[in-house]
Amino acid sequence: MNPMSLRDAINNSPRENYSASEPLSVVGVCLDEETWLVLKQFAESAPLVRLRSHLSEYRVQDTDAATDWLGTPPPDICIVDFDRDRRRAALAAECVHSASPETAVFAISSDAQPDLIIQAMRSGCSEYLLKPMGKEQLLNAVARVGGRRKERLQPFKAQVLAFMGAKGGCGVTSVVTQLGAMLANSFSKKTLIVDLHPDFGDAALYLGLTKYRYHFFELVENNDRLDSELLQSFLAHHSSGLDLIPAPEGSDTPRRILPGAIAQTFDFLGTRYDFILVDMAPGLSDENLEMIRHCDQLHVVTVSEVSALRNVVRHLDYLTKKEIPRERFRVVLNRHQKRALISDGEIEKTIGQRIYWKVPNQYAHVVKAINGGDPVAQLSSSDVTRNLRDLASTLGAKTATSGKKKESSGFLGLLGR
Ligand SMILES: Nc1ncnc2c1ncn2[C@@H]1O[C@H](COP(=O)(O)OP(=O)(O)OP(=O)(O)O)[C@@H](O)[C@H]1O
Ligand SMILES: [Mg+2]
Repeated sequence: MNPMSLRDAINNSPRENYSASEPLSVVGVCLDEETWLVLKQFAESAPLVRLRSHLSEYRVQDTDAATDWLGTPPPDICIVDFDRDRRRAALAAECVHSASPETAVFAISSDAQPDLIIQAMRSGCSEYLLKPMGKEQLLNAVARVGGRRKERLQPFKAQVLAFMGAKGGCGVTSVVTQLGAMLANSFSKKTLIVDLHPDFGDAALYLGLTKYRYHFFELVENNDRLDSELLQSFLAHHSSGLDLIPAPEGSDTPRRILPGAIAQTFDFLGTRYDFILVDMAPGLSDENLEMIRHCDQLHVVTVSEVSALRNVVRHLDYLTKKEIPRERFRVVLNRHQKRALISDGEIEKTIGQRIYWKVPNQYAHVVKAINGGDPVAQLSSSDVTRNLRDLASTLGAKTATSGKKKESSGFLGLLGR
């Protein structure tokens, strides 16, 4: 997503209804005299902000140093003046953003060139204020930070359940989309699927959702600006009631996902859903590792094949070495057949733990669900549906008395025709 369009979207939104019980603390970096004066007058005239300190140079050594000069607890807002030295200002903004992701970084400058604004946003700034700084402009920016702080204080609610294949094609997207639609439809649970594939994710296709604008990594890149309104523009809605945040269509511009940003994004999402199911690409990328550290349970989806089972063992050993508690791992055996070449007992011996869940092998039905784009309607009487309904109950969902069903859009609809 072009950061300008995102910023415009935010700036065009009505001001949040913000009343802070406590003023937001502000630290300034290299602000010119006039800006500092406006800030002081603003702080005196409205009890929304409290000026904490002003740094007269850009401190850009490292993240640890930023933690020191930001103070404890870190401020809610850090305003960095970009006019004295843009390069050092951008570095300072980056240091603040990594040292304290909770701190909103505002850039201020007299230069409104779009590429400079984009550059500042990429350094982690959530607002770009123009000089001379007007009270209205400042008030709007402060109100957005206040609104987000209020949202962060809402209690954590969702179970975050991650699903990763032992290798490609084990059935992760099939299980996640059907389970998600089931939780939303038959159990009336507020459910979100996040497609964490770095590119070419299938979840949107399996759900027949072809109309969406943005993908998950754009959301992560903008997580410090995240509020309900912004989230809405990232959600695709399925007829079962399920929400989806899709993966990128293909590899677009290089991404810069800061450490901690995925966890932070899920903290925010978690306050809005009962269940969040994560469709992960196989492998142990940095993003996957952060997700695994942050989720409540990791489901390693496998099939009864030597190469897949060997990968389950490798994954579990590796993650254990990374100090991720063993209780977090669940092994899901997909395409299960009673008379398989490798018995369930042999599998459990190999992987060194119980198989948490077995999903029956039912190719024709699963393919029908994928082609129809509506897992619940297509599979109403199948073994897989019954099985996943039981899984949903095991996960703690209780059946709702009525579930709504809408017509599937069909195979051609998936292709946008
Ligand atoms: N329970 C099942 N019974 C029979 N076939 C299944 C089952 N689950 C999935 N499949 C089939 O396996 C194939 C791969 O499924 P799916 O795309 O869900 O796997 P994946 O793990 O998401 O793959 P990828 O690694 O490409 O993301 C599909 O053709 C699907 O129909
Ligand atoms: Mg998949």
